[in-house]
Amino acid sequence: MAKVSSHDQNLPANTKVFVTREIPAEGLTLLKKKVALEVWEEDRVIPRAKLLKQVKGVAGLLPLLTDKIDGEVMDAAGPQLKIISNYAVGYDNIDVPAATKRGIMVTNTPGVLTEAVAEHTFALLLAIARRIVESDQFTRAGKYKGWEPMLLLGTELEGKTLGVVGLGRIGARVAQMAARGMGMKVIYYDIKRNPSFERELEVRFYKNLSSLLGEADFVSLHVPLLPTTRHLIGAKELKTMKKSAYLINTSRGPVVDERALVKALKGGWIRGAALDVYEEEPKLAPGLAKLDNVVLAPHTASATQETRGAMAKMAAQAILDAFAGKTPKNLLNRDALTKKAS
Ligand code: GLV
Ligand code: GLV
Repeated sequence: MAKVSSHDQNLPANTKVFVTREIPAEGLTLLKKKVALEVWEEDRVIPRAKLLKQVKGVAGLLPLLTDKIDGEVMDAAGPQLKIISNYAVGYDNIDVPAATKRGIMVTNTPGVLTEAVAEHTFALLLAIARRIVESDQFTRAGKYKGWEPMLLLGTELEGKTLGVVGLGRIGARVAQMAARGMGMKVIYYDIKRNPSFERELEVRFYKNLSSLLGEADFVSLHVPLLPTTRHLIGAKELKTMKKSAYLINTSRGPVVDERALVKALKGGWIRGAALDVYEEEPKLAPGLAKLDNVVLAPHTASATQETRGAMAKMAAQAILDAFAGKTPKNLLNRDALTKKAS
């Protein structure tokens, strides 16, 4: 075990932290220096029973979005559990009220992945609009026999309308790229209005999701997964979209009714879709993978070396801050602090 540096002298050297899978070294190195670190060594999601066993006695837990962290896990850890530092911006995998009730802090990793996810959203948008994946498959298969006037015609972005659903950090960055970089008209729907953003980028707010859906040529989803956003896009919404429109989802799978989407893509209700997330990951809805008018990525929107490293560092730092008696930067449940006063 590394030496404990002077300002951490109040941190017992046997303070245990468990990381549920190997993450970039930027985060693990930080933790290793200060705590007794354990990392789940297998390259797959930790099975539930193993998780319940591994968390016993830990003061800090660093889970991934693929781990369901509920009251049962918290109780299996024990009353010394101080912080759950989620390696993701989305935290629908964590029962935050259950943590608050037990005085356990919960943090996430916002900001550091905004750029990576926004860029990936555009990669998907361009890939589906310009049929990049189909083109690649066509070329590799040796089907390219020379230039053709009608070969693989796609859709341009310039002058088209992008409908952003959820104008958080990521949605706002996507809106900015579209308006500034691509000459697109941008409209957005959110539960909250952002007037200064509207003025700055000449973006229009829509109070009704269905009005936005009826007008957008591209619809991009950037809402968190909540009871109110589950199946936000279902059969009715897909039918409201233009037949020429595309749907992009880099948020959370259950925001879209995936079976309805398969019907929509088969039936020509919309022209195409590009997805990074799925309703029952890693499973795909029946028929989805057989379709040509869809681009499918394996939940890799934040997967850049820069971002995954920064997420690891941020998640590790939150744990060290909590142990040092500081309020972690991205604390999601301030009420947990008063609960633990005892
Ligand atoms: C990725 O999906 C995240 O929420 O960080
Ligand atoms: C995530 O960072 C968001 O607010 O969109």
